[in-house]
Formats: sequence, structure tokens, C-alpha cells
Amino acid sequence: MNTTLPKATILIVEDDPLVRQSMAVFLENSSFHILQAKNGNEGLALFTEKNPDLIILDLQMPGMSGLELMAAIKDDLPVIPTIVVSGTGSRDDVIATLKLGAWDYLTKPIEDLTVLEHAVTQALAKASLITENKRYQIHLEEEVSQRTAELQRREQELKVTLISIVDVVASMVEKRDPYTAGHERRVTSLSLAIARQLELDEVRYEGLGLAATIHDLGKVAIPSEILSKPGKLTSIEYQLIQTHAQAGYDILTKGTAEFPWPIKTIVHQHHERINGSGYPLALSGRDLLIESRILAVADVVEAMASHRPYRAALGVEVALTEIIKHQGTLYDPEVVTACLALFANKHFSLESL
Ligand SMILES: [Fe+2]
Repeated sequence: MNTTLPKATILIVEDDPLVRQSMAVFLENSSFHILQAKNGNEGLALFTEKNPDLIILDLQMPGMSGLELMAAIKDDLPVIPTIVVSGTGSRDDVIATLKLGAWDYLTKPIEDLTVLEHAVTQALAKASLITENKRYQIHLEEEVSQRTAELQRREQELKVTLISIVDVVASMVEKRDPYTAGHERRVTSLSLAIARQLELDEVRYEGLGLAATIHDLGKVAIPSEILSKPGKLTSIEYQLIQTHAQAGYDILTKGTAEFPWPIKTIVHQHHERINGSGYPLALSGRDLLIESRILAVADVVEAMASHRPYRAALGVEVALTEIIKHQGTLYDPEVVTACLALFANKHFSLESL
């Protein structure tokens, strides 16, 4: 097996043929592959065509000078080591070449060419480290972006799973309480329409949609005879029905499901009122999530507008009159305004849902 590493290619740009030739021969004997150019123009052409690993560059040459050549390839200088070998040795030249990106500066005549060889070897070793580092950096960035994409995919899968579970729970609740069939769906649609009207952000919008779908989940803890009782409820029965907000919260809290949205809190708060007259905690104002304040309005409008076992549907007009009457006392004023705007000019209709 041939384990010989490819020879590094060095471009020597030097107008003095004796100097150029002596450097070329010495470095060739040190196992480098040498390209020679006698001025800046030839040097630039060879650089572009052959893509050398290192450049040895004179400054003063007829035609394009060493500094002009460096300026022409300045974007490559951070990764292509360039050793300036000049007869001037003036401070200004040294500063100018270093500013342009030269890696090293040697003064002519170079009595001992092993000094040049040493400078070449050092510069190539540094360049290889830089290249290696860059490769590692790119690999790392690719790795990070792949992992991020994988995490986002899994998060999306988890969301889809959670949404399916919520849907299953919603249909279980509906099966048990067929008189309110469609209630959750219509409340969800109205809640989301209000949320859009209020320009709620996307994450909150998603959470509100899921919470609305199962907001009456706690009704599974209430005897179905009470839920479907056709007549007027006694005060005890009414109190029992009111426990569903707390029961829903308890069910969601006792499970191990961790939602990326405040679903438990929204379910808990959907019968709270902004003046603190609601249940189960009698919270008020800004202690209530905006999602809960939206759901409360959507819930009451849908409930009044629709048929119930104990009464006929009251209609949307009566429902809207009710929220106007209690705008700012029971119901969030901005949410009420948004809800009214939806129904104005028949932009939104519960009947079509
Ligand atoms: Fe409820």
C-alpha cells in the first residue's frame, strides 16, 4: 500500500531567476512540488489555475507587484499561507504585507535556505490546522442542524399524539352527554374565531383550541341523569354540575400528560368571571388567562344560543344581548367586543357549524 502523502504545491513568485531557481531547487529536494512565476501577473494566473498550498512572494517585480498580487487574492490569504521574501526589508513593507494577510516575512538574501524551509513547514502545519478546524466546525454545524430538525420532528409528532388523545377524550365526554353534542365543537370554533380577532399568538391559539375541545371534561364525574334532566335543576343538582370545572382540572392534573400549553388552567378557569363571581376559585380580572376569558364568552354564547334538555334554544340575539349586558363585569370587555364583531354583518354563524 502506498502511504506517501501528496506533495504540497508551492508557488514561487520572484523576478530574479537565480534567487527563484535556488529556492525552487532547494524546496524540490525537500519534497515539495514547485510552480514558478517571474512576476505578479504570471503568479496570479498560476494561483488561479493550480490552486497551490503556499505562496512565496517577492514584493518588487516588473508589472504586477507582490503587494498588488496579494490585494488581488486577499480573500484567499486567511487560508493560503503566503511568505513574503523581499530585499527591501523596510518597516513599511513589512507592515503593508502583514496588513494584507502575509503569514511570514523573510529578508533577502536568504543565506541559509533551511530558514525558508522551516518557515514553509510551519506555515503549512498551521494552514492544515486551520482547514481541519474549519472542517470540524462545518461538521459540528451540520450535526447541530440535523439534531435540531430531529427534535422539531419529534416535538411535532408529540403534538399530533396529544391532539389525538384530546380528541378521543372529547368524544368520550360527548358520548356520555349527548344533549350537548356539538357544544364543544361550536365553542371551539367560536373561541378560535375570537382569538383570531384578538390576534392571539399561534401557541396560545393552539392551546385554546385544545382546551375548548375538552373544557367540559369534568362532566364525566357527574351522574348522567342530572346532565340530561329535562326539567329545572334543584340547587343541589346545580351545585353538583358546577363541580365539573374543578373535576376537569383534577382529571388532567392527576394524569401524567404534560401539555406544552396551559390546557389544565384554561379548563379550570372556564366558568370564572372577571369580577370574581365565577367558580371554582372566584378568580378575577388579569388572574384569568386570556384564553379562559375567551372560552368563558364563547361557552356562554353557544350555550344560550343552543337547545338544552331543560329549555329551548334562546337564540344568538339573546346570547349577544347577555354578553353586552355584562360586558366589563362578568365578561372581558375586549373579548366581548371581538365576539360581537364576529357576529356583526353575519361574518360568523353558530348554525353553520
Ligand atoms: Fe363548562
